[in-house]
Amino acid sequence: MRLVLSLGGSVFEGDAQRIRSFAEVLDQISENNELFIVVGGGKLAREIIKKARELGANETMCDYLGIAVTRINAMLLAYAMKNSAKKIPENFIEAFELSKKYKAVVMGGTFPGHTTDATSLLLAEFVNADLFLNATSVDGIYSEDPKKNPNAKKFNKITPTELVKLVASSSMEAGANVVIDLLSAKLIERSKIKTIVFKGEPENILKVLRGEKIGTVVEP
Ligand code: UTP
Repeated sequence: MRLVLSLGGSVFEGDAQRIRSFAEVLDQISENNELFIVVGGGKLAREIIKKARELGANETMCDYLGIAVTRINAMLLAYAMKNSAKKIPENFIEAFELSKKYKAVVMGGTFPGHTTDATSLLLAEFVNADLFLNATSVDGIYSEDPKKNPNAKKFNKITPTELVKLVASSSMEAGANVVIDLLSAKLIERSKIKTIVFKGEPENILKVLRGEKIGTVVEP
């Protein structure tokens, strides 16, 4: 199976052992699957972007700084893995070419204007992935932000069109925090790639691939 995994930047905020746990699981998965991993920038990206903004950098400049941090995280993970290419591709064509030689390819962001979630969906579309996995900080997609409303309902399954509607309506509210952004939801709808959103823990990636019902499945 050809898999694209979006790994939130929070993974890299822990100690080296946490990164190693992910690296081991990802090496294991790449033995039987073609694996692409796109990593986020996390707290370090947010800190650097805040500092740059204070210094007068515009939003595109800040995006470039964010991308640089995602690529540092990609190097960390790629160097911790046995099966990954050590070169970090800067675009999808390069990623695809590397995947012909390596069992796994790790990359960060590509160009300004969006987050690594959108990047990973564009990659999934480009390489015709069979499955897109979004390992994130919450355990699935909720009707509302579960941190603000404890009565928010978790979806076990949702269609891409329903997801676009949900994200569009909640992004109208100030400070709304949806696990998927609107561009990414639109890309899921366009590509029709089966997507699973779940809490980013190494054992959860294995569970999802074993077909265990965790997180939220986005499927037409
Ligand atoms: P992230 O994907 O980590 O963004 O990229 P985020 O929204 O902060 O991540 P999570 O989901 O909350 O962990 C970090 C920053 O890098 C830039 C953006 O500025 C983004 O906010 N970036 C990243 C790009 O401009 N293009 C990309 O392709 C990726």
